[in-house]
Amino acid sequence: MELAEIREPDQPGFTRRLFSDAYRTSRARVAEWMAGAGLAVSTDSVGNLFGQLTGAEPGLAPIVVGSHTDTVAGGGRFDGTVGVLGAIELARLIREAGLELRHPLRVADFLGEEPNRFGLSCLGSRAVAGQLSPGHLDLKDGRGQTLGAALGAAGTHPEELAQALWGEGSIHCYLELHIEQGRSLERSLARLGVVTVIAGISRAVIRVSGRQDHAGTTTMADRRDALAAAAETVLLVERLAQGDGSDESGVGTVGRLEVSPGATNVVPGGATLWAEFRSSSPGWLDRRQPALEAGLAELGARRGVELSSEWVSAEPPTLCAASIRDAIGEAITQLGEPALELISGASHDAVHLAHLGPMGMIFIPSREGRSHCPEEWTDPDQVATGVAALLATVLRLDGQERL
Ligand code: GLV
Ligand code: MN
Ligand code: MN
Repeated sequence: MELAEIREPDQPGFTRRLFSDAYRTSRARVAEWMAGAGLAVSTDSVGNLFGQLTGAEPGLAPIVVGSHTDTVAGGGRFDGTVGVLGAIELARLIREAGLELRHPLRVADFLGEEPNRFGLSCLGSRAVAGQLSPGHLDLKDGRGQTLGAALGAAGTHPEELAQALWGEGSIHCYLELHIEQGRSLERSLARLGVVTVIAGISRAVIRVSGRQDHAGTTTMADRRDALAAAAETVLLVERLAQGDGSDESGVGTVGRLEVSPGATNVVPGGATLWAEFRSSSPGWLDRRQPALEAGLAELGARRGVELSSEWVSAEPPTLCAASIRDAIGEAITQLGEPALELISGASHDAVHLAHLGPMGMIFIPSREGRSHCPEEWTDPDQVATGVAALLATVLRLDGQERL
């Protein structure tokens, strides 16, 4: 609740976006909490924040536990934050109990997990996993600034991207505690979930180029209205996500739209849409890209506008490691709770950490499944149960040689 009060004053809800003063201030607070829990605090070249506890056995790879503390615009108080503060609490509990893990414990607050104005998500976790390329740093926002320049202006060192790399096999495992952001746990009255697979996401920026004209004098037949074409594009994405006759399914969203020049009496000359498709079925996801492009070509020809799509990211569905799922399931059973297995429709830093070693996620309930909105809520005792499951899981995994 204290962190949630550090928010962007001109935004609704609990907004703390990458590059905002609120985010910068909030992370200084997170660093203080890490230090207060006895963790050695550090940052890397791209702005990830870490707190580390040493392990008893030198040379062992760390158990990494983390998430993110940035939010979407108009977001809530739990998405990501639960995973970072829960990991700090985990470290505090370990020290308070006088326990010493064999492996180092690394608490991670990964930079900018939510999609930013450049259309890219999970900057920090991509960077450590080698999934952030120099090409990504050239992505431009609406004003022509590059992601690399924005990161530099925020005090990080994207030119030293390579220094942030951890390397494959450099972690014992990665764990993330997160709110479910859906209704499966609440519906089944379960308090803890074991994630089996994280849905993949394909994201595209679609640019519509029409012709800017006078809204009073240009006949309807003469128009090449970019916004009208964008409206059809939104419906195209919705239609393509509604199924293709196969057993597989997914979702599709256009969550952002900009219109140029954006005046009541001007026929819009340009529009930009940010669209995404998600599914836990790789085949379904793969078929969206050609289907969208075919739809855009047809639409552009029919309306006399140019439509181009740039695929800014394409993550296939990510399986959680069987060894970590088993350990989480056993830990939950040990707490006397049922362990519900579920799919994550939301994406997470865990997707990228899975490139480095075995990964698993623990879910706790979201009231009415609400998330990415100010109403997002999880009861304090549900958060505490999640941290207890995290602790029991870490203790199990610490004792295992190979995962
Ligand atoms: C992360 O919040 C996502 O977009 O799934
Ligand atoms: Mn989110
Ligand atoms: Mn999240």
